[in-house]
Amino acid sequence: MYLLGIDIGTTGARALLVDDNTGAVVASATSDYPLHTPKPQWAEQDPEDWWQGTIRAVGQALRLAGITGKDVRAIGLSGQMHGVVLLDESGTVLRRSIIWCDQRSQAQCDWITERVGAERLIRLTCNPALTGFSAPKLLWIRDNEPEIYARARKFLLPKDYIRYRLTGEYASEVSDASGTTLFDVSARRWSEEVLHDLQVDRDLLPEVYESPVVSGRVSAAGAEATGLQVGTPVVGGGGDQAAGGVGNGVVEPGILSATIGSSGVLFAHTERPTLDPKGRMQTFCHAVPGAWHVMGVTQGAGLSLRWWRDNFGADEMELARRTGRDAYEYLTAEAAQAEPGADGLLWLPYLMGERAPHLDPDARGVLFGLTMRSRRQDVLRAVLEGVAYSLRDSLEILQHEMALQPREVRASGGGAASALWRQIMADIFHTEITTLNIAQGPAYGVALLAGVGSGVWGSVPEACRATLRVVDRLAPDPQRAALYDRYYQIYRALYPALKDIYKAVARLTAG
Ligand code: XUL
Repeated sequence: MYLLGIDIGTTGARALLVDDNTGAVVASATSDYPLHTPKPQWAEQDPEDWWQGTIRAVGQALRLAGITGKDVRAIGLSGQMHGVVLLDESGTVLRRSIIWCDQRSQAQCDWITERVGAERLIRLTCNPALTGFSAPKLLWIRDNEPEIYARARKFLLPKDYIRYRLTGEYASEVSDASGTTLFDVSARRWSEEVLHDLQVDRDLLPEVYESPVVSGRVSAAGAEATGLQVGTPVVGGGGDQAAGGVGNGVVEPGILSATIGSSGVLFAHTERPTLDPKGRMQTFCHAVPGAWHVMGVTQGAGLSLRWWRDNFGADEMELARRTGRDAYEYLTAEAAQAEPGADGLLWLPYLMGERAPHLDPDARGVLFGLTMRSRRQDVLRAVLEGVAYSLRDSLEILQHEMALQPREVRASGGGAASALWRQIMADIFHTEITTLNIAQGPAYGVALLAGVGSGVWGSVPEACRATLRVVDRLAPDPQRAALYDRYYQIYRALYPALKDIYKAVARLTAG
């Protein structure tokens, strides 16, 4: 039999089929959908596009594997976190979903913080109110589109809307619910106190399960649309970060993951809710029952290199078209020709503001230290190093302010495909960087959760032990690590020097 992991990403839906005997990936398919940006800093998607993308990806994965819905033992759902889907009485979507990277809700964040109290909010939900999270978006709709809010009967997160279409159930699970600002992350239930203070009706919210627990079964309508079998169990699943944590085997203390996708995330498993009192690191429930995770988010990680490619990488893109290879391979090969430290060039990757450690939507990207000697390859290397310095900012907080000591950091995401980027992380972090036999991220993580929920494995750690193993280790080089330490001090000095200037630029460009 097979386990199906579905991931509702920002660019597309992904379906992954895993052999429940061996843990091997037998087929994977993706289907893209649009992202709407009606105004700068706004980001919306149509839940119907997620559903149609899911239908296409699942159908293609089944065809590729040469199996039918009858062969699928259980399903796990993962997805972009924080998006708000509102449904009316009849289960019809009321407006496009405002998704995780939308920044329109600062006024609502300020209102929440004032009403609940900054310290009390962190005590109740383990996190501050951030524009990225769900409740500020929900309240933006209440403030600006009251007629829509008045008709809303259910609020669902992106992957939970897919669950609703597949099973007819209104349900979520603890890891995704953690990113709503309405959830008591320590007690793993909706926060009555926060709901009361924000005057949000409890009936608007779905039931919450632990991630490997069966939350519903494929309905006749879900089966007809997807080719899956009526009655197939669907487990809780996880928000993309917690699900990725499972897919990377970060299910015990001492192992961290560093994921470079569009954003960069440093992720740690914890046995109890471990808080950053300053709210720079997010503390959420893990997809492992009884465990939590902390993470630091760099907004513009892989995005930095993508920005470079799109603006200055026309030659590499052309070369990639001709050879059938990836433009990033050419870009990182060029970066490898520069010396460590990029001849004094430093990159601040704040292209989309920054979450950890600055929590500053106004921060901007900076290329510092250009001279007449600076070459293209130096700039490229500086970009890779700048992203790693930003992740080290999160690592420093974890190690020195939250007392989490990593013995191993696992690299994952598109950026981890580059051996150079992995080595730069090893040198800048002063830790070994490992890679696993399977690098399939959140979709694989929720396929494992589906296996746990349907009795293939006894627990999430057992599922990870049975399927994942380290296949590559890169050790830090002491000389380069010492050099990077000196550059890191300069990197750290740049943001405070620019903080007020960023505000001035934001004021200038706002109107
Ligand atoms: C996590 C976060 C992103 C989104 C989209 O807090 O904002 O990981 O889930 O990937």
